Amino acid sequence: MSTIALKVNGRSHTLDLDPATPLLYVLSDDLELRGPKFGCGLGQCGACTVISNGRAIRSCTTPVGTVAGAEITTLDGLGTPEKPHPIQQAFIDEQAAQCGFCLSGVIMTAKAFLDQNPKASEPEIRQALSGVLCRCFTHTRMLKAIGKYAEGRNA
Ligand code: FES
Ligand code: FES
Repeated sequence: MSTIALKVNGRSHTLDLDPATPLLYVLSDDLELRGPKFGCGLGQCGACTVISNGRAIRSCTTPVGTVAGAEITTLDGLGTPEKPHPIQQAFIDEQAAQCGFCLSGVIMTAKAFLDQNPKASEPEIRQALSGVLCRCFTHTRMLKAIGKYAEGRNA
């Protein structure tokens, strides 16, 4: 066990943990955040995606010790039900969800990508999202919502 300092959604935490513990377990079990989801646990579906120092990472395969001190953002840190983040509002406006299980990963992946590539084209956005799986086949509406958000932030 080691003492690990984590900064998540603007709040600092000091936790006694095995540094090899997947970040996802710490976010879910220790910090009780419900944004990141456990899908495959193998880095293959994207449901667990969070943003670390501006980069989308898969928290199920990220040992917590490797992100000590990093600025981590989960879906829980983006907006609130009363004041959703503009990307969340775009998903609400487009009704871009079925079961919603993939949404946290889709939104965090899209946000990190557009923060780094504000002028990305539709095919580039599609490519960036290609590794985040949606079992409900809601891709078309989600891409529409992301496109709307991308347009709005460039306006
Ligand atoms: S749960 Fe992490 S990529 Fe699937
Ligand atoms: S909305 Fe169900 S997995 Fe994507």
